[in-house]
Amino acid sequence: MKQSFNKINKVEGELTFRGDKSISHRSVIFSALAHGKSLIKNISNSDDVASTIACFKELGVEFNYVEEYLEVIGRGINSFKAPSKQLDAGNSGTTARLLSGFLAAQNFDSELIGDESLSKRPMSRVANPLKLMGADITLSDNNYLPMKIGKSSLNPIEYEMEIASAQIKSALLLAAIHLNNESKIIEKLSTRDHTERMLQLPTFYDSGKKIIHASLLNYPKNSIYNVPGDISSASFFIVLTLLSKNSELIIRNSSLNESRIGIIEVLQKMGGDITIVSQRSDMGEPLGDLLVRSSEHLSNIKLDEKIIPNIIDELPILSIVGIFASGDFEVRNAKELRVKETDRINAICRNMERAGIMVTEFEDGFRLSGPPIPQSNIFESYGDHRIAMSFAILGMLIENETTINDFESVSISNPLFLEQIKKITS
Ligand code: S3P
Repeated sequence: MKQSFNKINKVEGELTFRGDKSISHRSVIFSALAHGKSLIKNISNSDDVASTIACFKELGVEFNYVEEYLEVIGRGINSFKAPSKQLDAGNSGTTARLLSGFLAAQNFDSELIGDESLSKRPMSRVANPLKLMGADITLSDNNYLPMKIGKSSLNPIEYEMEIASAQIKSALLLAAIHLNNESKIIEKLSTRDHTERMLQLPTFYDSGKKIIHASLLNYPKNSIYNVPGDISSASFFIVLTLLSKNSELIIRNSSLNESRIGIIEVLQKMGGDITIVSQRSDMGEPLGDLLVRSSEHLSNIKLDEKIIPNIIDELPILSIVGIFASGDFEVRNAKELRVKETDRINAICRNMERAGIMVTEFEDGFRLSGPPIPQSNIFESYGDHRIAMSFAILGMLIENETTINDFESVSISNPLFLEQIKKITS
């Protein structure tokens, strides 16, 4: 589907986003694993989280929508139904990778599949460390879905992460919570910490490294989850407000987890007028309200390697800010962008060229020199929701009508994007 956008006049109003996608996936997984009834409030309405729910339905978990809650009747340890068909993770890397850790610990065989994009994304990154635990995993071409997982008996592991990835970390922790003896997962570069927070895993720091302990003692119990709003979905609206004249936006109930608010930190350092107006905590996850106002003079800053995992999903929309800010916008140490829903370095560089930006592409990033002087106002989403939304925001900031091709991918994270844009723009 093609979607057109025009320059907006201003942003004004208030938005509350549906539940954070990463926290929603984990709420579903932990509720499914726990024995008995759990309730999840403000679950994400994204296609990705629907994929996680569909996989657990196939494993015998019951889900019911009861008023504003998703009720989950979890099976408890070693009580899942063996799947009668392949488990389809759709477009969701988080579903495939987190489930691989959980499935490796089950007493039945299973097979994970995904859509065309997910079938091109690397899976040996989770399969290899899981195999070190004793998992029986076979991948297509040693790296891709379909992933066949045989029943096997696992051993605990002490593993230092080779790639800064919350998905790999969480897959290993999900396997580790099935074992009597303790596993230790060590991170040099911190990644989003929802799994260890929500499971209350003992965490220690040594010589700048984070060490997370996990064992059967940490197996989830049934609970009530209240998922804070998705800060990654909010970031598109934050940027649109900063870059539009006479604009003001309030965002209610946003996740303010420290491992996720790198986008706010970077935008503030660039000169963005963003204030956290209230902050609280719910079940260990910080959340609060944000006030965002137009900010005329933004300047690009150096992005340190350490902050990259914290803003990995926000780099496409940050690159839009980057071309309006003074100085060049440069991203390095972000090779991971090449293995997201699409090769995001390629997608950003090609679309920026269409926008008349001077582009230098690196294996691990890019340099952009703005401002935009469109050669063409037609951008490709490459089937990637965050690319689609980022260039839609650009379309609302430049003259002439902009078209985004294959815009339907937005429902992967935020099916309400267009409705929310309509609500706050004039
Ligand atoms: C996610 C982790 C990140 C992120 C993805 C969601 C998660 O991936 O890009 O959108 O929920 O754990 P990596 O951990 O592989 O970087």
